[in-house]
Amino acid sequence: MSENQASLTAGGNSVDMPIKSGTIGPDVIDIRKLYGQTGMFTYDPGFTSTASCDSAITYIDGDEGVLLHRGYPIGQLAEHSSFMEVSYLLLNGELPSQQELADFTRTITRHTMLHEQLATFYRGFRRDAHPMAVMCGVVGALSAFYHDSTDIADPVHRKISSHRLIAKMPTIAAMAYKYSVGQPFIYPDNKLSYTGNFLKMTFGVPAEEYEVIPAVEKAMDRIFILHADHEQNASTSTVRLAGSSGANPFACIAAGIACLWGPAHGGANEAALNMLKEIGTPDRIQHYIDRAKDKNDPFRLMGFGHRVYKNYDPRATVMQQTVREVFDALKVNDPLFETALRLEEIALSDPYFAEKKLFPNVDFYSGIILSAIGFPTTMFTVLFALARTVGWVAQWNEMISDPGQKIGRPRQLYTGPTARDYVPLSDR
Ligand code: ACO
Repeated sequence: MSENQASLTAGGNSVDMPIKSGTIGPDVIDIRKLYGQTGMFTYDPGFTSTASCDSAITYIDGDEGVLLHRGYPIGQLAEHSSFMEVSYLLLNGELPSQQELADFTRTITRHTMLHEQLATFYRGFRRDAHPMAVMCGVVGALSAFYHDSTDIADPVHRKISSHRLIAKMPTIAAMAYKYSVGQPFIYPDNKLSYTGNFLKMTFGVPAEEYEVIPAVEKAMDRIFILHADHEQNASTSTVRLAGSSGANPFACIAAGIACLWGPAHGGANEAALNMLKEIGTPDRIQHYIDRAKDKNDPFRLMGFGHRVYKNYDPRATVMQQTVREVFDALKVNDPLFETALRLEEIALSDPYFAEKKLFPNVDFYSGIILSAIGFPTTMFTVLFALARTVGWVAQWNEMISDPGQKIGRPRQLYTGPTARDYVPLSDR
């Protein structure tokens, strides 16, 4: 057996399987021939040890707390870049020149308007609908409105649909919010930045001039950068799986939104803020820490722990700094921030959290910032979906452009009844 092969003996057969190396990160054992040679499948519910694809977009080293987009560390991008630039980077692989960034921004800006008939579509939803329910419906409906960009075999169609999705998501998200509060929809204002425009469409009203506060715009843009992509997470894998059958990109992104909605994924920021509100003051923290450690109590510290990060989530570091900037800009001082800081301090000095490698994740501080800006908790996951759309689109494009792409089709360990004969109804 050569050095770059793994061998497995199973069912009386010995199988050699190639080991593949990426540019960084763990090697993978290519098991594609396993079934043919042994008649056995691998078994990995939750995909804890399974790489589902090749990808050159995002790299995470969870033990070291590293997150790179196309090789660039998230901390550097959050500090120096913009969401438009990061979007270009994720889609194209390289940072843009000034001209490329200007052209890309202009293209996205020109796609921000929604087909006018979509406004009627919103009115079919109940006023009290959760905005994520509205997002699933409206984004899924885009393929009915933009059918001219749904031929996935045509690179031009793919490019236009990608631009449309990134550009229209802020408009769709802001309209979901406006509908829920009974205010009129605000049209996009192409003089503004991507993020400034979103803030205006969300918080502006026709009766008054809306002024974008630069520090809030910057903070929001940074939050979008922090959520732009995260490798093969549940919603991204959902987008890829939906796309692997040849479904159109609007349908695939709607599938990603549905997956993101769950509390173990995009919904955790809402839960983290609710938990901080329940704790209230620092003197009550120890009680909740004790509850989190108690095996007989289902309570968990929300915003703590991560499937991949077994060290500080680098996005949480940036989030913590951003809280202060937003508070300064808006002249607010939410005591929950002090509670959060103290909770982090107490938890990190507790052996339980150290042993289990539980650190604050991106959701621990994001709820505090978003609520200071004025978003209701039901909008938190919508903002996540807005930002993650560029990651979904980049990953979908990468998959469709890969000539070796196959339909995703996992197998199973069957535990149901073996073959048996049908019993007529009269005999049962
Ligand atoms: N509080 C207290 N204990 C915890 C926590 C927590 N937040 N998270 C994990 N643990 C403990 C578990 O009880 C378990 O203990 P055990 O080994 O004694 O049974 C151990 O740590 C490992 O936990 P698992 O649930 O097996 O780890 P997994 O990788 O499957 O789960 C998850 C990761 C779901 C994120 C988990 O840490 C959690 O529920 N955190 C709170 C929810 C949250 O913040 N989610 C946001 C994730 S980030 C994102 O999606 C953008």
